Amino acid sequence: MARLIIVSNRVAPISEGGPAAGGLAVGVYDALKETGGMWFGWSGEILGAGQPMLTVTQRGPVTFATIGLTRRDYDQYYRGFSNATLWPTLHYRSDLTEYDRSDFDGYRRVNAWLAARLVPLLEPDDIVWVHDYHLIPFAEALRLAGVRNRLGFFLHTPFPAAQVLTTVPPHAELVRALTCYDVVGVQTAPDLRALVDYIVCEAGGTVTHDGRVDAFGRTLQIGAFPIGIYPDEIASLAASGSEDDVVHAMRDTMGARKLIISVDRLDYSKGLLERFRAFETLLEHSPAQRQQVTFMQIAPPTRADLHAYQAMRSKLESEAGRINGRFGELHWTPIRYIHRQYDRAVLASVFRAAAVGYVTPLRDGMNLVAKEYVAAQDPDDPGVLVLSRFAGAAQQMHGALIVNPIDRVGMAEALDRALSMPRDERRSRYRDMMKMLRDENVSVWRDDFLRALRGEAWPLPETARA
Ligand code: ADP
Ligand code: F6P
Repeated sequence: MARLIIVSNRVAPISEGGPAAGGLAVGVYDALKETGGMWFGWSGEILGAGQPMLTVTQRGPVTFATIGLTRRDYDQYYRGFSNATLWPTLHYRSDLTEYDRSDFDGYRRVNAWLAARLVPLLEPDDIVWVHDYHLIPFAEALRLAGVRNRLGFFLHTPFPAAQVLTTVPPHAELVRALTCYDVVGVQTAPDLRALVDYIVCEAGGTVTHDGRVDAFGRTLQIGAFPIGIYPDEIASLAASGSEDDVVHAMRDTMGARKLIISVDRLDYSKGLLERFRAFETLLEHSPAQRQQVTFMQIAPPTRADLHAYQAMRSKLESEAGRINGRFGELHWTPIRYIHRQYDRAVLASVFRAAAVGYVTPLRDGMNLVAKEYVAAQDPDDPGVLVLSRFAGAAQQMHGALIVNPIDRVGMAEALDRALSMPRDERRSRYRDMMKMLRDENVSVWRDDFLRALRGEAWPLPETARA
């Protein structure tokens, strides 16, 4: 069996305590811990010149090969082009997109530099699977270095409409670089349609109905591969985490009140402000819910050195304060707003304790939290998922109450409906979603992608057809 090499910018932390907040680290780690293989990427550290760079560590069947970046590389490749240019564009926030040509040069330089560090670690039969927008030019750099292995790429974020992508000045160069992979995967059918549209209308390429692409003088395979979770693992974590002291203490403070839970990296794509305001509208329009419900937002800060993140954070803090000031009582704080990172079992049992999972990004590639929330529920008395139509997960999770995060009143109505939904309806929605989560779990995602990468046919799930 060929060795699997995963390449991504963010690598799950090597020490115990679970992966970093972020769907890529969680999903990829779950996929890799069964097959074993090597995971190559950034160590998360900024190093001075002359410090040791590549560190190789073994954890179970996974070899982690991680590497530090210099301050300049970090600024241009990660903070600059990846997160100030690509991230907002991929999430339809062209208003926040910054572009600096030297950052793009740095992005290409770091991709080439990382590729050159990987080459000596590769064996001829290895299958290389590269993840996410930080590493679009990685295959091109490997090919230039003479690597002939099968190379796959998976985009964890949305693939935006061509009219949005073309706002990034080097868009054609980026998509041309994508065609250096043998297989390119996106999360959902709408993402796949957007990719096809770009290839056909912008690049003058062709795409067959089963995803064979001819463009920029190259041939490759594209497809939609929705990332999943291991639902039964989350379910047992939720049951075991319920015994944790922190979770007991939280339940004590809740009393008979219902809990609405949101968990996201503190990112503008997640729609936190709209969500806070819709919760305010619920309290305004449904006085019976006041004091009966608490909304808890867990949001570990991310990319805090970017202005857009700082601005959003201070706006949220003032909104949380304003809403709590307006509706709070001596014995009740409507919104609890927490920045901490939690252990997976604690998080799963907080999901289980919550009557509503409130997952309302403005745009999201998939959103694993939506899946984890459902998987963590008590099958006899499950909570209700309120889910944005703009999360990739909405393509699969038909048992959720689907909302438009821009529609504040619509969101408040969905919360109200979720809080008062009869148990039978909750159970039937939960059962439907649990079946899908089991049928399309993270190993299905991995195996389907790898099958495509080996050039074999893979079964397209109904939800992933273009
Ligand atoms: P993204 O990849 O954009 O961050 P996802 O919802 O797909 O969004 O993935 C986030 C992952 O990070 C989930 O597995 C979630 O459980 C985890 N996570 C998010 N916030 C926390 C936190 N505060 N503590 C621990 N894990 C977290
Ligand atoms: O899943 C989307 C994603 O952007 C990953 O690529 C990334 O690792 C994660 O969210 C967290 O962001 P960051 O790596 O910038 O902390």
